Amino acid sequence: MPENVSSRPVSPWVARPGARTWRCAPAPAEVRAFHTALPDYAPTPLTELPPLAAELGVGRVFVKDESCRLGLPAFKALGASWAVHRALSARAVSGGGPGPVTLVTATDGNHGRAVARMARLLGQHAHVFVPQGVHPQAVAAIVAERARVTEIAGSYDEAVREAAEAAATPDAVLVQDTAWPGYEQIPGWIVEGYSTLCAEVDEQLTAAGVTEGPGLVSVPVGVGSLAQAVVTHYRSRPSGRAPALLSVEPEAASCVLESLTLGEPVGITTGETVMAGLNCGTPSSAAWPFLHGGLDAAVAIPDADGIRAVADLAALGVSSGPCGAAALAGLRAVLTGAGAEERRTALGLGATSVVVLLSTEGPAANPGDGS
Ligand SMILES: Cc1ncc(COP(=O)(O)O)c(C=O)c1O
Repeated sequence: MPENVSSRPVSPWVARPGARTWRCAPAPAEVRAFHTALPDYAPTPLTELPPLAAELGVGRVFVKDESCRLGLPAFKALGASWAVHRALSARAVSGGGPGPVTLVTATDGNHGRAVARMARLLGQHAHVFVPQGVHPQAVAAIVAERARVTEIAGSYDEAVREAAEAAATPDAVLVQDTAWPGYEQIPGWIVEGYSTLCAEVDEQLTAAGVTEGPGLVSVPVGVGSLAQAVVTHYRSRPSGRAPALLSVEPEAASCVLESLTLGEPVGITTGETVMAGLNCGTPSSAAWPFLHGGLDAAVAIPDADGIRAVADLAALGVSSGPCGAAALAGLRAVLTGAGAEERRTALGLGATSVVVLLSTEGPAANPGDGS
């Protein structure tokens, strides 16, 4: 399918006509029941911010605030908890050995901490590979979960490769939040785990009087697994309006934007960014068909925009880390500035539209943001 690449008026961006009619199967319903039975479970807040609606020229803006999710400062525990549960259950059924297993993963911070937390709670071990550029406090938080941490002198993609190699022993299970050909089942469970976040948004919007669902959802993107969950949620609904779905990445690591622009998944060389959790060079292979089919647009933002969004959300009472605030920064890049009218039209947005920003982490998740 030919890609419709605009000139680059404010930030790099690509729009994909037709994404709102793309359809897929829904996530399994039992995920929500699993999460609600966890001792620390509570829905995270969905906070309405009228000043942002006024600034952006839309009807209502809501922020899904993931700064405290299952006792951790990012949404990632939703995926890790369900995937670890499924992986350990499958191992028990297949007669895995009697001793504890080592859950192995690579992380830009949040996912590894969530896997380490699950391992500790379930009496298992964890071994977490951390690339360059993750703040020492984020590393210390993983160590505090009693995980073994291996810091490597390379990128996130290199850390994923090392973790996969380290997990190739009978007493280890790789719990990675990105897929590649031949490694798809556990990343699939992680994506299923994220569906709880979307289900909560539905209920919270209904309670706020938004009966038709949102007009646009803005999603911070690293490898695209969260975006895969969001696409799955909104493109599997039997009825109701299909919202526009916007992917937001740092300019230093915009692998999904590049891939959508080219029409095929590509790996890129990443740079440095304060949005550490989004610093990924290759889209998940399992996510790609969903991103390619169901995302309306992708944008990349500079660090300065993310840092400003952190401060602006804080002033409005929402605690966001730079990855979480990227949802706002990306929305601003698309809805304001030169060419904004064309982009608003491409997304089907008007003065009464309802927008949901997924603020995927709090400041405690990513302390070295420079803000
Ligand atoms: C806080 C935060 N937001 C968003 C993302 C992006 O998720 P994904 O890599 O599934 O695109 C991550 C990934 O680690 C993250 O830590």
